Amino acid sequence: MFITFEGGEGSGKTTQATLLATALRTAGHAVHLTREPGGCPAAEAVRQLLFASHQTFTLTAELLLMAAARAEHVTRTIRPALARREVVICDRFSDSTYVYQGCGGGLDAALIAAVDAVATGGLVPDLTLLLDLDPAAGLHRIATTGRSTNRFDTRPLAFHATIRDGFLQRAAKAPERIVVVDASQTAEGVMAAIWQAVQARMVL
Ligand code: TMP
Repeated sequence: MFITFEGGEGSGKTTQATLLATALRTAGHAVHLTREPGGCPAAEAVRQLLFASHQTFTLTAELLLMAAARAEHVTRTIRPALARREVVICDRFSDSTYVYQGCGGGLDAALIAAVDAVATGGLVPDLTLLLDLDPAAGLHRIATTGRSTNRFDTRPLAFHATIRDGFLQRAAKAPERIVVVDASQTAEGVMAAIWQAVQARMVL
């Protein structure tokens, strides 16, 4: 089973992905927890390149770098883990590209779909957990938890509001795959909602 987490900056998806991995392991499942961009050595190197504060790329180059990282990750990490019947939990995947490079950056959705199809080879998550949070609250969390920021976090609030809307629009178009979770709840409340959504889709 392939599960992805999506959401804006500071939505808590990394924490929740880790909690879900622990809960599934406790329930007896083999779990591979990973992230994008990244998740294998070559893709982590692309991540470094993308987030280096001195380096900027055109939007098209950014899309292609995200896709290059994804192609490596899908081929070298995700598909082999799924073939071993592990549950793969990935912190961000294709939805982030549609939303950040598409809704946020303004790239055409058809172009993103074409590039992403090459990167994924058609792999689509079985379940996507969208952690929805007011972007001002998310940025506040980042500022107060001392998490390190990258040049992607430091864009204006209006950009983050566009990202939130973009994710919600994608969820409205694919309600069978994307479950919207209210990320303003306590971490325990968010975890409970996630566990319910996962349980509904797999025999635990
Ligand atoms: P995060 O995983 O720590 O939240 O940060 C990853 C950043 O990369 C985040 O700002 C979203 C961005 N991103 C894209 O713009 N497009 C993508 O396809 C992916 C996977 C991430």
